[in-house]
Amino acid sequence: MKTKLLTLSLFVFSIVFCVNGVESAAKRGEWFREARFGMFIHWGIYSIPAQGEWAYAQKPWKKGEYESFAKIFNPTNYNPRQWARLAKAAGMKYAVLTSRHHDGFAMFDSHFIDYKITNTPFKRDAVREFVEAFRAEGLKVGFYHSLPDWTHPGYADKESPEYIQRGELHEPTKEQYLNFRELVYNHIHQLMTEYGKIDLLFLDYTSIHKADEDYFDRERILSMVYRHQPHIIVNDRLSYWKDNCRDFDYYTPEICVPNQPQRVKGREVMWETCATMNNNWGYAREDKNFKSVEALVAGLVGCVSRNGNLLLNVGPTELGEIQDEAVERLKGLAQWYSVNGESVLGCGKCDYPPPYGCAYTAKRVNGVEVIYCHFLQIPLGDVILPKLKGRIRKATLLRTGKELTQVNNWGFELLLPDEQRLRVRNVRVGDVVKLELVK
Ligand code: GLC
Repeated sequence: MKTKLLTLSLFVFSIVFCVNGVESAAKRGEWFREARFGMFIHWGIYSIPAQGEWAYAQKPWKKGEYESFAKIFNPTNYNPRQWARLAKAAGMKYAVLTSRHHDGFAMFDSHFIDYKITNTPFKRDAVREFVEAFRAEGLKVGFYHSLPDWTHPGYADKESPEYIQRGELHEPTKEQYLNFRELVYNHIHQLMTEYGKIDLLFLDYTSIHKADEDYFDRERILSMVYRHQPHIIVNDRLSYWKDNCRDFDYYTPEICVPNQPQRVKGREVMWETCATMNNNWGYAREDKNFKSVEALVAGLVGCVSRNGNLLLNVGPTELGEIQDEAVERLKGLAQWYSVNGESVLGCGKCDYPPPYGCAYTAKRVNGVEVIYCHFLQIPLGDVILPKLKGRIRKATLLRTGKELTQVNNWGFELLLPDEQRLRVRNVRVGDVVKLELVK
């Protein structure tokens, strides 16, 4: 009986913690759930035309015209250490750089193609410098790597420039397709074996037109990735559908705050929303529609309050600089985080419903439940906290460190018996009240 029990528990253990020598996604992703906030960096030769990373698809370039940007790409102001410091100060704990986007240009010293950064006047391997600089600042590092390759004859899709621009779609031969697939594999292999420990891999994407195929041979890619980087977490975009496919380590909605924790096959999963600061991922000179710091904070808090992360994007220029507007926002976020960071780090969903105009994040500290009440708008006056009457030991406004009073003898509203009124004055958007509950 005992041995049976032992075998059974070992079996369960191996399923929960260890599949094929790789620990469960929940275990590998512990740092990721704790972190909650990261920096996305979309950078490539598309920063020269400066119309976003889909520039190649957005206008009918003359033959070779777009590719010729590689001949002049020279981002002499590239200083990844400075990017890392900005990210770190803003509270970001990891960063993800585009090693190669759909336009096919490699930001690393590819062994397989010539269309790469080390063949530009710049000559340096931007990916290598990125991992070294961000690691040196104590951040985790990851790559965004494109699955589509618009420059390869083996890839054809209705979401490619040839179709968008001319309504044409060439048909790759079997051999061309296999070469394309091999190149994707080889590039990922190079990135997984020559750049040290990589914490995260964001593969993008499987188009709806390929939804029903295993177009990229996902198990071959994934087993290679886990073999070389057993602690890594990999996102979900090797498949378009999520429910009738293998499980992925984490899931990646885009530019929105989902209304609830994300579930796949009935189970809650790790997830991260990626979002732009303006309306473009890659540098877009004309796009000045930057969101306010308050809006970015609200987005971050929204993700955390639903057990998710935010991967906030910057699109550096052709000179390798993060735009002033983005730097300003990162500094604003840094200011916010330096006071309120504890409401994000290690936090997740709260089971209590928040008051009007607020969102909650929560965590347990030494066995005590702590709720962070985030003000998404300036309140009319006091706030009324549902279900918390008699439950709050201490309420503190983090920005001032001042304790707030719970108002109990206020007769004009028809409060429910379990509602607690809290006196807040001169609160600003983005302010956080820390509610320490009684044990
Ligand atoms: C989409 C876009 C791409 C962008 C990505 C970010 O897949 O094709 O340009 O990099 O979303 O998640």
